[in-house]
Amino acid sequence: MSGAGAALSGNAVIGVIGAGAMGAGIAQIAAIAGHPVWLHDLRPGAAEAAIAGIRAQIGKLAAKGKLPAERAAAASAALQAAGTLDALRDATLVVEAIVEDLDAKRALFTALEERLADDAILASNTSSISITAIGAALKRPERLVGMHFFNPAPLMPLVEVISGVATDKAVADTVFATSAAWGKTPVLARSTPGFIVNRVARPFYAEGLRLLQEGVCDAATLDAVIRDAGGFRMGPCELMDLIGHDVNYAVTRSVFDAFYGDPRFAPSFVQLELVQAGHLGRKRGRGFYDYRDGAVKAEPVSASAQPRPWRIALNLGHPVAAAWSKRMYASAAQPLQTLGSVADGRIATIDDRTAVFATDGRSATALAQALGLPAVVTVDLMLDPATAKRAAIAVSAHCSDAARDAVIGMLQSAGLAVSVLADSPGLAVFRTVAMLANEAFDAVHQQVCSEAAVDVAMRGGVNYPIGPVEWARRIGLARVLAGLDHLQAHYREPRYRASARLRHAVLVAPPATGTCA
Ligand code: NAI
Repeated sequence: MSGAGAALSGNAVIGVIGAGAMGAGIAQIAAIAGHPVWLHDLRPGAAEAAIAGIRAQIGKLAAKGKLPAERAAAASAALQAAGTLDALRDATLVVEAIVEDLDAKRALFTALEERLADDAILASNTSSISITAIGAALKRPERLVGMHFFNPAPLMPLVEVISGVATDKAVADTVFATSAAWGKTPVLARSTPGFIVNRVARPFYAEGLRLLQEGVCDAATLDAVIRDAGGFRMGPCELMDLIGHDVNYAVTRSVFDAFYGDPRFAPSFVQLELVQAGHLGRKRGRGFYDYRDGAVKAEPVSASAQPRPWRIALNLGHPVAAAWSKRMYASAAQPLQTLGSVADGRIATIDDRTAVFATDGRSATALAQALGLPAVVTVDLMLDPATAKRAAIAVSAHCSDAARDAVIGMLQSAGLAVSVLADSPGLAVFRTVAMLANEAFDAVHQQVCSEAAVDVAMRGGVNYPIGPVEWARRIGLARVLAGLDHLQAHYREPRYRASARLRHAVLVAPPATGTCA
């Protein structure tokens, strides 16, 4: 993950081209880091307007005490608008953030090549175009590198440093070290569709859309489960509403096409419908949610209050049962029967007939059948069962309402809101995390980046609570693999095929740490 190069010196001139949302953010970062910065845009007046905006931002940071007054003044003074590309001739590094179009980017870099010193570094902030393809138009493609910031650039820590086929390793290392010197968290990756984040994050949206398409729950319940059980900062529906469905759909399409139609990346009709309806998300006042004035906020469906069952046998050898037992004792000092460690790995038994299991990628009904049990309740993955706020459960076909309510009562007495989902394989959090981890392992398998880099990228680029590889190891790689195999067996689709690297990792992995439910 680390680059061995040295950062550019503080007085190196930085050029930024494109004064839109990303270019302005990048110029702000470079100026605060102490560099003289030239900002250029094709639209007359755009660079000047962006600089005025950046100076206002810098002023706010200084007023809040987040930036010493002297540094703020120096950063504001360091920013200059460049009327033409000629003004960038002294730049040591030029970061391009213009329109997302291969021909436009190629033309720009070709024009820059003629004006800059031979050892100047050319960087593109593209989020989806191949660095190799952009570089192919250049006389010296070895000095072109991807420098992919995330929106909003001043706030998001991640920078993906992308090497194309021709990129000189020393160039990537310098950009890596410079990004770190600018206070960012860089990772190295190879130029492949979606790089790291836009590839590995696809299942976060895709699994959510699939659950909605299959009617497993509604958008507000799905978001609440992913947040309150999964520990993600936002659920997939609210996040897609924020990104914009047109943008999210276009990225999904481009990754799908770039992978020659691999069904893992297939776009969703649910999202297509929203795009076609013009329900593009927050920016249009409607997406999964209604943001118009006076609209009623959709709430997640939570089970109504149930009494705590008088008899629960908890398998305290199971980490989830141990965490829940602590929570139940904390809320009511009622004795709990202990089950001891059970060979079939259940969390609890209710009313002697109904077994509670952490999901393993099967539906509750399939699990009951496979184990020859009369009734099963499956519980979704929780990032941390000791602190989760919500549990999602599903009940098997022959589970009684009384047993279901007893499980709900048990979970509520542990302080959890409960969402009862349709009996779908792998519920919501588990299948999402299993698919994220699978994609992460596959990216590593295909030499895109290291395991450490993928985890850093997903935390720093999209705020995941832990990296997918680390998460999978906490869950237990064998359980993640079994979950994917069960999903694939259920759907009979290559979409859920497990990465060869994950399969191999299961063979060599130490046992799960058991902290994850
Ligand atoms: P934007 O549309 O806000 O800004 C682009 C700017 O570039 C405009 O001001 C436009 O006038 C200018 N421009 C277009 N062609 C030009 C040219 N040939 N020479 C000079 N200026 C030119 O776009 P945004 O969102 O800032 O994106 C810019 C780049 O960053 C794109 O490649 C995009 O894929 C990438 N990116 C965008 C992210 C986002 O969330 N918006 C995140 C990460 C990367």
